[in-house]
Amino acid sequence: MAKSEEEKITRKVLIEGLNEDLSREYQAIISYVNYSQVLKGAPYMNIADELAVHAKEELEHALKVANHIDYLGGMPSVTPKPVKTSEKAEDMLRFDLENEKETIRHYRRRVRQADLLNEFAIAESLRGILVQEQDHLIALATALGVDPPDAGIAD
Ligand SMILES: [Fe+2]
Ligand SMILES: [Fe+2]
Repeated sequence: MAKSEEEKITRKVLIEGLNEDLSREYQAIISYVNYSQVLKGAPYMNIADELAVHAKEELEHALKVANHIDYLGGMPSVTPKPVKTSEKAEDMLRFDLENEKETIRHYRRRVRQADLLNEFAIAESLRGILVQEQDHLIALATALGVDPPDAGIAD
C-alpha cells in the first residue's frame, strides 16, 4: 500500500467509504429482490432461488455496515446506487456479476483502511462479508458458465 494512503486515512475517510459500501448493499438488495422473481426460464430456476438467498445476505451486510458507520460517529446513508433492469436472464446475471466485482474491490480496500485505523473488529466483520460476496460472485459466474473474474482492489 502507498505510504500516502497511510497518512491520509482518517475516521472520516473510513465513514465515507463505508457509506459508499452501504449504498452498494442497498443496490444489491433491490436487484436481488427484483431479479430473483423476474428471472424466467428452466435453465435459470436454481439460480433464481439462489438470488433470493443473496437478497437476505445483502440485508445482513447492510445492517452490519450501518452499525459500523454509527459506531464511528457517522450517519448511515439511505440512498442505493442505481439498479439496472432487463427482461433477459443473462443480462440480469451479468449486472449482478459486475456489481459483486465492484463490491469485492471496495471491501478489500476497506479492510486495509480499517486495519490502518486499528479498527480490527470492523476489519474482521468486513472480511466475513467478503467471504459471502465472493460466494455470490462464484454462484453468478457458474450460472453464466464463465470463470469467476479477479476483482482486484479499489484505489
Ligand atoms: Fe453484500
Ligand atoms: Fe453480494
